[in-house]
Amino acid sequence: MTSVTPAHATQDFITASDAHSAHNYHPLPVVVATAEGAWMTDVEGRRYLDMLAGYSALNFGHGNRRLIDAAKAQLERVTLTSRAFHHDRFAEFCTQLAELCGKDMVLPMNTGAEAVETAVKTARKWGYRVKGVPDGRARIVVASDNFHGRTTTIVSFSTDPEARADFGPYTPGFDIVPYGDLDALRAAVTDETVAVLLEPIQGEAGVLVPPPGYLAGVRELTRERGVLFIADEIQSGLGRTGRTFACEHEGVVPDVYVLGKALGGGVVPVSAVVADRDVLGVFRPGEHGSTFGGNPLACAVALEVVAMLRSGEFQQHATELGEHLHAELGLLVGTGKVSAVRGRGLWAGVDIDPALGTGREISEKLMARGVLVKDTHGSTIRIAPPLVISKEDLDWGLDQLRAVLGA
Ligand SMILES: Cc1ncc(COP(=O)(O)O)c(C=O)c1O
Repeated sequence: MTSVTPAHATQDFITASDAHSAHNYHPLPVVVATAEGAWMTDVEGRRYLDMLAGYSALNFGHGNRRLIDAAKAQLERVTLTSRAFHHDRFAEFCTQLAELCGKDMVLPMNTGAEAVETAVKTARKWGYRVKGVPDGRARIVVASDNFHGRTTTIVSFSTDPEARADFGPYTPGFDIVPYGDLDALRAAVTDETVAVLLEPIQGEAGVLVPPPGYLAGVRELTRERGVLFIADEIQSGLGRTGRTFACEHEGVVPDVYVLGKALGGGVVPVSAVVADRDVLGVFRPGEHGSTFGGNPLACAVALEVVAMLRSGEFQQHATELGEHLHAELGLLVGTGKVSAVRGRGLWAGVDIDPALGTGREISEKLMARGVLVKDTHGSTIRIAPPLVISKEDLDWGLDQLRAVLGA
């Protein structure tokens, strides 16, 4: 049923990849060779507009000059020390990132899942040492349809059967409530609750924006009950929604930010937990760590990311083009082609009429027209181009979507 027939060279790469890699992904049949800005070129020279941006890891575009230059300069100096020694980019990185977040301290890791794990450990330790929860009793409230990563503990509190099945036994200590339901959250918080862990906008679930007032309500409730509010801004943060953090749309400052993806500028994996001293100060040497976390190359790139975010230009561009994106997508709602559009800034989940195809089929048809997107569940596709995309390119991408939908 696919409209895409991979040409020979492409098929050779795909066959070789299928033969020697675990089949834990089902990529679109495109083999990328080079990329620049919002565009990727495949092994046969075809160009594609990247409307996924590495799930927001590429907010600043492919091959961003400032980030590549920062990485190259650092490559020539020192790349890895491990945390056994100090290095001269570390303090600057932690200081600048903490300042961007308005917090005291940073605990750097590499991938998003590691940062979420770090936040879970932070909350538990804080619960025992600061809040006074009896040993082994700490609980964390999370939302249904969450996506926080793929480790055994994280999939333990997933509600996605595909992500969980066959990976038990599961880590206990998590309570799951419906996303966006403040009353359910209130009912789930007990004296043993140490944290509420939420995505301010649920990305993998289909770019679900919670009802107005929800995040502010979570903030108020957690403050009242002496519970940490942990915002997983790995996908929603760092400019994607038109603000540095998606929580800002409700004027909310969580206790703990969990950051990843774009923090590494699409160059290296960089993640971090950022919080005040009364929270992150619970760690002592030897209690947590990572060989690569906070390495010089990661710090150099992430420092440049922080400097770029400080200017506000990416947030501004995401706000302006995001308004345009949502206005255009909004016109498709009610045409019989699209049932709903959600999102903020340069981030949209588009529910397509299932009669027109699955999300996968729509993605393949878009690919055939030179646009790369990713389906989520059912007939929903996700649009999240690099924040450096031009209005002309965005409009061209939207033209292709309209053509695929017959709109
Ligand atoms: C909100 C959120 N948290 C955590 C993760 C996990 O990040 P990583 O794939 O780097 O482990 C993701 C990845 O998609 C995410 O979207």
